Amino acid sequence: MAALSFATLKQRAEKIKELSTLPTVMLRILEVMNNPVADARDVEREIMEDPVITAKVLKMANSAFYGANRDISSVSQAVVLMGFAEVQNIALSVSIFSRFAEPTKVFDRRQFWEHCFATAVTAEALQRRVNAQTNDGFVAGLLHDIGRVVLDQYFPNEFRDIIAMAETQKIPLLDAERKVLGVTHGDIGYWVAEKWRLPPLLTDAILFHHSPFSCRESYVLTSIVHVADVISKAFSGYMKDEIVPSPKDESAFRLLNLDSEKVMSLADLISKKMEYFDTLVGSFA
Ligand SMILES: [Fe+2]
Ligand SMILES: [Fe+2]
Repeated sequence: MAALSFATLKQRAEKIKELSTLPTVMLRILEVMNNPVADARDVEREIMEDPVITAKVLKMANSAFYGANRDISSVSQAVVLMGFAEVQNIALSVSIFSRFAEPTKVFDRRQFWEHCFATAVTAEALQRRVNAQTNDGFVAGLLHDIGRVVLDQYFPNEFRDIIAMAETQKIPLLDAERKVLGVTHGDIGYWVAEKWRLPPLLTDAILFHHSPFSCRESYVLTSIVHVADVISKAFSGYMKDEIVPSPKDESAFRLLNLDSEKVMSLADLISKKMEYFDTLVGSFA
């Protein structure tokens, strides 16, 4: 069994060059999201300069979801039709999928992104459903398990040990991570998110998405991500084979005042949005 010390692991994770910066489009979007006086047109310009993102935005804008028969040929028209937030979400998804497009070593990357996208879409729907004073649900959902990409890509041997241990000892992967590494994918995701200089609200939601009430920033956002993570597993196959799922925190459901009826009312919207996952992930996974 691998035995990496906390310090070695953190040091190794922090030295990974490819993880040092985020794609420019993503940075610009986060900047605008966190700065009320920033100019949203900067994001639009940034998107227009990226042919891959532009193509996906136009494809989505012309899809049945947004009303077929329309002939949307520019990012600005897409913004008018879909709303700026939606265009931003597409850009965020495409940039993160393309940034980590390398073939996976241990797990199914496509299923993994499907889970992250489902969590993002669910978190966004939840934040509206509960009138949360946050717009970070989508991006927090998208990035919540980013630590697992790091594990898969850069610590494949340890990751294999973790999966084997979860299977043989019939424990959640999360617990196996703790036993093998001394930390979880939440901690690793947090290191990376810190390196990317993401705002504390987001780094915190990534760190505590499995234990929302330990968080230091926003119980609401972290609970939204936690609940979205639980719900989204019904919409995507990632870790379907996980023998023992990580425990869900009922207090997060209570904090958001969510009963099963409210959750079910989101199912339609989430499934419809999931139909577009293939378009967004395209050749990246
Ligand atoms: Fe997780
Ligand atoms: Fe997750």
